[in-house]
Amino acid sequence: MDLGLRDKNVMITASSQGIGFSTAESFLKEGANVLLNGRNEEKLKHSYKILCDKYGSGHVACFTGDITVADTISQCRSYIEDTWGRLDVLVPNLGSGIPICEDKLDIKEWETLINVNLLPAVKVIREFTEILSLSDNGSIILISSIVAYERMRAPYAYAAAKNAIRTLSKYLAGDLAERSVRVNCVVPGNIMFEGGRWEELYNNDKEGTEAYINREVPLKRFGRPEEIADAIVFLASERARFITGAELVIDGGQKRS
Ligand SMILES: NC(=O)c1ccc[n+]([C@@H]2O[C@H](COP(=O)([O-])OP(=O)(O)OC[C@H]3O[C@@H](n4cnc5c(N)ncnc54)[C@H](OP(=O)(O)O)[C@@H]3O)[C@@H](O)[C@H]2O)c1
Repeated sequence: MDLGLRDKNVMITASSQGIGFSTAESFLKEGANVLLNGRNEEKLKHSYKILCDKYGSGHVACFTGDITVADTISQCRSYIEDTWGRLDVLVPNLGSGIPICEDKLDIKEWETLINVNLLPAVKVIREFTEILSLSDNGSIILISSIVAYERMRAPYAYAAAKNAIRTLSKYLAGDLAERSVRVNCVVPGNIMFEGGRWEELYNNDKEGTEAYINREVPLKRFGRPEEIADAIVFLASERARFITGAELVIDGGQKRS
């Protein structure tokens, strides 16, 4: 199936590892151009080099900076305008469910997790909508989590922020349709990869983590980042031109509701 993504320009925030990095690779396989982002320059350059070696340096770019900061976001927009002129796909991927304390109602934890999981998505969408509108099939794919739907072992603030991401996706889809920008949301379950949160939890408690996965996930395994990436690529593609305001759950059957 030709996804029609050749030479499309794709920006993925927080993409030097994990789901963001796999998403970059899946777009590159389709012939798109990708802009990677992360704070740690060395780590970002390492990921950039891996992708340049595989797909050619003409298709990959990278922008170092903290994407929670307004100035960084506007510099990133200028960089995209200077490099590509327009944007076709935006994936506001930054997010983290790592708690900072035991108290689920700790205000500092709420501020931190809302600042990482919700506000950066709002800020990048606000900044990039104009250059996305220049595309004939502009697309935003937001990243929620199954913790948004029902009570799981997640910080309350993370679950609430990921629920707000679903709401943001639905509302934006209605409003941005007139600018030919589609907005969809992917909802991952437990995704394991090297250097990720689940790897850390697994290494700390192998038996407990395996028991949890076997009990809670009908397909009895972790998801892989490529499995989220492929769904994102499909939603951004020509084949999904009539899909907007949708949520795609990719969790091995874990979500019950
Ligand atoms: N993994 C899962 O099981 C899972 C499940 C459901 C939903 N999700 C969601 O999927 C998305 C990706 O998750 P992931 O597990 O792949 O993430 P991850 O492994 O925590 O991703 C970390 C990436 O984000 C970058 N990063 C962190 N803070 C940044 C900042 N302020 N500005 C720019 N880059 C930043 C990191 O590079 P630097 O440290 O160098 O900045 C790194 O490239 C998130 O929205 C997450 O909530 C994940």
